Amino acid sequence: MASPRILAFAGSTRADSFNKKLIKIAAEAARAAGAEVTLIDLRDYPMPLYDGDLETKEGIPASAKQFKELMISHQGFLLSCPEYNSSITGVLKNAIDWASREAPGETPLVCFKGKTAALMSASPGGLGGLRGLVHVRSILGNIGVLVLPDQVAVPKAHEAFQPDGSLKDPKQQAAVEKLGVGLAAILQKLHAEQ
Ligand SMILES: Cc1cc2nc3c(=O)[nH]c(=O)nc-3n(C[C@H](O)[C@H](O)[C@H](O)COP(=O)(O)O)c2cc1C
Repeated sequence: MASPRILAFAGSTRADSFNKKLIKIAAEAARAAGAEVTLIDLRDYPMPLYDGDLETKEGIPASAKQFKELMISHQGFLLSCPEYNSSITGVLKNAIDWASREAPGETPLVCFKGKTAALMSASPGGLGGLRGLVHVRSILGNIGVLVLPDQVAVPKAHEAFQPDGSLKDPKQQAAVEKLGVGLAAILQKLHAEQ
């Protein structure tokens, strides 16, 4: 089959985001394992807060359409999700909400159904954003994404990274790389006939 296509992004728009650093590690590992990886920054797809009246008047915003098209054209997602107040960040939930809206003639949830995702998180806190991942997993699962059981949460993220972007703890580094490699491998198997 052709290389599996993976879309990778963090649920943060912050320039110095720990989750942007983390997703880069997983994305590079997936690429090294033979996947075609598109690493994006949600900051480049600014979306208004979902508003049904805005959608009725103006349709789906251009940036949300672009984001959704990217999701449609990839078979797998690598997501690094910060935890806000024990849950998903507003920016990630808003992007998912817009992407879940059906354009005329489109199959419902076209950019989610049949896709496979691997999750990770990083936080300066002691749990590494683990509680937020529970919610992200549930949301994605409910809209048709197969979310892989393996996940990694990196605690004390403000102390966890080397200046070159790798994780100081080699075991943590290997675990994050394994998420990228594992997603690439499962996509190879799932889409072997394509
Ligand atoms: C509104 C808000 C709520 C937060 N709530 C939590 C939380 O519940 N658990 C946690 O571990 N960190 C929490 N944090 C701290 C974030 O983990 C921290 O800001 C982290 O750097 C965000 O991820 P990023 O670096 O990828 O942007 C919160 C931060 C903000 C701004």
